Amino acid sequence: MTSEPIPIQSIVTDDGSLTCRHPVYGEPYHALQGARTEAESKFILPSRLAERLRQGPLRLLDVGFGLGVNCRAAAQTARQTGGHVLSVDTVEADPDAWLRARTLYPECRLTRELTETGRYQDHFVQVTRHDGDLRQGLTHIEGPWDVVFHDPFSPLKNTECWTLDLFRLFFQKLSPDGLLLTYSESAAVRAGLLQAGFLIGTSPAVPPHRGGTLAARAAHQLTHPLDPSPFQIFPKNVPFRDQALADSGHSIRARREASVRSAVQ
Ligand SMILES: C[S@@+](CC[C@H](N)C(=O)[O-])C[C@H]1O[C@@H](n2cnc3c(N)ncnc32)[C@H](O)[C@@H]1O
Repeated sequence: MTSEPIPIQSIVTDDGSLTCRHPVYGEPYHALQGARTEAESKFILPSRLAERLRQGPLRLLDVGFGLGVNCRAAAQTARQTGGHVLSVDTVEADPDAWLRARTLYPECRLTRELTETGRYQDHFVQVTRHDGDLRQGLTHIEGPWDVVFHDPFSPLKNTECWTLDLFRLFFQKLSPDGLLLTYSESAAVRAGLLQAGFLIGTSPAVPPHRGGTLAARAAHQLTHPLDPSPFQIFPKNVPFRDQALADSGHSIRARREASVRSAVQ
């Protein structure tokens, strides 16, 4: 990623909240049907964040911070709930993300303080910023987490964030009653989660948004469990692999394509 500031062209999504397109990945940071409503429907509601915060203090891993929409939605839920403290570790690889977030959401105190000091704290929320690639971050940021918002760009563009090898790290660092949430419905992603040891389920669609995938260690965390059998059959059972946790998305995609090709020959 370049450290030069990049011109930012904001996009007004259908619910009035703002997003923009990433110049390298070429994808918008959020669903154009609504950035704020996507955060609610894919992450806040299916994680039962408010209910969990009424029960006890909670640790959340937010991947990646991006424009801060999910992180802000989680902080707002904690304040509105008025329950136990929410501690958030937010991970972001792109140094330009902070500039984009501040340009699009200049009033946001959480983003400003994270940008300036790397920390944010109020009565109900504390957030710690972690710069760099999640794959290295996960090996040294201390868990366990009760909830993971896994929100990289898509598996076909940001493939390094969707591998079996990374999901194994998540599995080790998720608390026994924890829940990982993502918007992706990809078969390769679901196969990777299953092979890492997770049970999987869906988050119900909240129109105009589609549903996503949930992954847990304990079955009672999944209100809509998914039958694993389709993801045990070739080629849906072939996950993305990145054993060194250091390969480019391009190499990881090429490796999966080669292993699918060699199995059909
Ligand atoms: C879809 S955007 C996230 C949107 C964000 N959750 C929000 O609510 O505004 C994906 C983010 O993941 C970050 N990212 C991509 N690969 C990463 C990696 N390997 N480690 C950490 N962050 C990564 C990107 O730089 C980008 O900011």
